[in-house]
Amino acid sequence: MINDLWYKNAVVYCLSVETFMDSNGDGIGDFQGLQRRLDYLAGLGVTAIWLMPFQTSPGRDDGYDVSDYYNVDPRYGSLGDFVEFTHGAKQRGIRVLIDLVVNHTSDEHPWFKEARANTNSQYRDWYVWSKTKPENANEGMVFPGVQKSTWTRDKESGEYFFHRFYEFQPDLNTANPLVQAEILKIMGFWIQLGVSGFRMDAVPFVIAEKGVQVKKPREQFDMLRTFREFLQWRKGDSIILAEANVVPKENLEYFGDDGDRMQMMFNFHVNQALFYAMASADSQPLVKAMQDTEKRPTTGQWGVFLRNHDELDLGRLTESQRQAVFSAFGPDKTMQLYDRGIRRRLAPMLGGDIRRLKLAYSLMYSLPGTPVLRYGDEIGMGDDLSLPERNCARTPMQWSDEPQGGFTKNDNPVLPVISEGPYGFEHLNVAFQRRDSESMLNWTERMIRMRKEAPEIGWGTFNVIDSGDPGVLIMRYEWRKNVVMIIHSFHDKPVEITFALKEDDDANSLVDILDGHDSRADGDGKHHMVLEPYGFRWYRAGGLDYLLKRSVV
Ligand code: NOJ
Repeated sequence: MINDLWYKNAVVYCLSVETFMDSNGDGIGDFQGLQRRLDYLAGLGVTAIWLMPFQTSPGRDDGYDVSDYYNVDPRYGSLGDFVEFTHGAKQRGIRVLIDLVVNHTSDEHPWFKEARANTNSQYRDWYVWSKTKPENANEGMVFPGVQKSTWTRDKESGEYFFHRFYEFQPDLNTANPLVQAEILKIMGFWIQLGVSGFRMDAVPFVIAEKGVQVKKPREQFDMLRTFREFLQWRKGDSIILAEANVVPKENLEYFGDDGDRMQMMFNFHVNQALFYAMASADSQPLVKAMQDTEKRPTTGQWGVFLRNHDELDLGRLTESQRQAVFSAFGPDKTMQLYDRGIRRRLAPMLGGDIRRLKLAYSLMYSLPGTPVLRYGDEIGMGDDLSLPERNCARTPMQWSDEPQGGFTKNDNPVLPVISEGPYGFEHLNVAFQRRDSESMLNWTERMIRMRKEAPEIGWGTFNVIDSGDPGVLIMRYEWRKNVVMIIHSFHDKPVEITFALKEDDDANSLVDILDGHDSRADGDGKHHMVLEPYGFRWYRAGGLDYLLKRSVV
């Protein structure tokens, strides 16, 4: 039963086929290339891969503008290659999640083409129209500064269509039962081809009421239950991981009180507070964010992440917190995006400081939920701020010091490989790091192994132990009478801390499961220790025989 809920303790690795590995030398990554890298991913220890959109698309929003939901974009291979890949992943015990982008289509999707060409078409009502320009056409843009409006006039029919995102991404009228049936069909199709579920794009917008008459859109939460039910009928262990950056009081609406809606959600709230903690050495807002998002059904799980393929959205911090993060990690206007976030990769944000990078990832692996890594994080890849918008953090994977970082044999990769400077492929690449036992890559592999051996984090309950210092976070997880304790210091100087465990823990003896810093409580029953700058410890309570005592999982 416990292992059936595989996502409660998965290690998810997110990648874009386009920029991972090119097998045929056309400069564009493809499924055959990815297939050849499966052993690398298995070696790293990840248990699930999340593929960003790879379906047929004009590619104006990195594939989030789909023009055929039932095909692989020919640049990446064929459906046959896709199935070979999912099969190869399965053989290595790795599950595959794929993006499900059904809030909108591309304006080149045949449904939209037909809808705009003919107002009597059956597809007309698959989109959202207005005969006149709605009053709120200049509100609600997701990409302020780049996107001009949310309603654009269609030259063919003369009416306005609604688009929450760019004007080439017309919103589907998701209230239309035919559209809902099509969404299920899309899920059913990919489930049949071997995926274990979906990262569902823009969920609050998918389920929002849409239309010119809607002033304050309400969410149609029942829709989520329909998606969930359908999936579980088709394949019982498949899941939906929702992209829903909502306020904590709405979380349970997405998970469902009885756990009958989304199995997983990304924890945007914790993500932003985590960056604030790293910027200010104040972990209190992070503790509050964890407590505010603690309540969820037993079968629900958070996706914990640091950076993803979008900007780091700081929109839910207070103004002063946001400014603190901007000034620490993205002071220059060129590093910021959409008036709310930072578009850099993590390593350059932290000035390439390996101590802070390890602190950040140690937090990602140990906060309540399932960690979601981004490709390239395992080697500390950088960004290219000369590329527009979010593309700066989407450059090709750096495999070796061969031309184009070993990503392609072509001189014109789909996006430029980062070359020269501290993050250049010439010295920052997988091949070099695999030979170096102290590298980020080998450290990541060890951390993943350790995270898998600590199912308490995914399954257990947590509480925060008073460290007497807002810059030191002590988390205690308990599950089936096993206790894991994880300590992080956000300080740039060594700090001395003293803390006590609960009476009923095997409190006297803490075994360090990462390094050799075991700790025994002093006569006062308290632990005393000195943490190095940005130091962290992973402990098990209960002395060296903890492995014997641990319940069977
Ligand atoms: C969220 C995705 O993460 C982002 O990359 C995309 O541009 C929008 N949704 C629109 O699909």
